[in-house]
Amino acid sequence: MQMAPADLRSQPKSWELRQIYGCFPTGVAAVCAAGARGRPIGTAVTGFTPVSLDPPLVGINVLMTSTTWPRLKAAPRIGISVLSQDHDRAAVLLAAGASDWVTETPHVITAGGAVLIDGATAWLECAVDAQHRAGDHMIVLLRVLSCAGDPSHHPLVVHGNRFHRLREL
Ligand SMILES: Cc1cc2nc3c(=O)[nH]c(=O)nc-3n(C[C@H](O)[C@H](O)[C@H](O)COP(=O)(O)O)c2cc1C
Repeated sequence: MQMAPADLRSQPKSWELRQIYGCFPTGVAAVCAAGARGRPIGTAVTGFTPVSLDPPLVGINVLMTSTTWPRLKAAPRIGISVLSQDHDRAAVLLAAGASDWVTETPHVITAGGAVLIDGATAWLECAVDAQHRAGDHMIVLLRVLSCAGDPSHHPLVVHGNRFHRLREL
């Protein structure tokens, strides 16, 4: 169906907004840390945004209803791994809240307790800087303490609620 700007709808329903937000392609970030008993906990978000270079800050958008976030934010260090194109199963497991990802997804735990996924395209070790409630989500600012990455390693891409691979034009 060909859409035109004249098709603008006011007061969109949640499912329409979800569809429209899904027109903006993103990567997937695994947000993981060692939990209270040292066991890794984590979730997957498309709501990841680089925010500031000086000071180094990134943002994530977290559902207010997330059961994982309250435990993650209690960790002194949080790992962000920008998932690679081969991490589609890891993304699904992380999003499902299934602890299977811990055994199925090779990862490392930093001295500070951030959990980073092997084979990701980028890693950031972060600490929570600020949180702002924004509707049904929380905007969380994270201060970047250390990082590494390689853009030649292709990321997992989400568009229209599906996983894709990057193709250079
Ligand atoms: C591709 C994908 C992207 C997601 N993006 C977000 C996101 O940006 N923010 C968020 O809070 N949850 C996001 N989710 C959902 C979370 O991964 C998770 O399922 C949700 O927060 C509830 O899990 P929990 O209660 O176990 O924490 C996403 C899920 C998938 C599959």
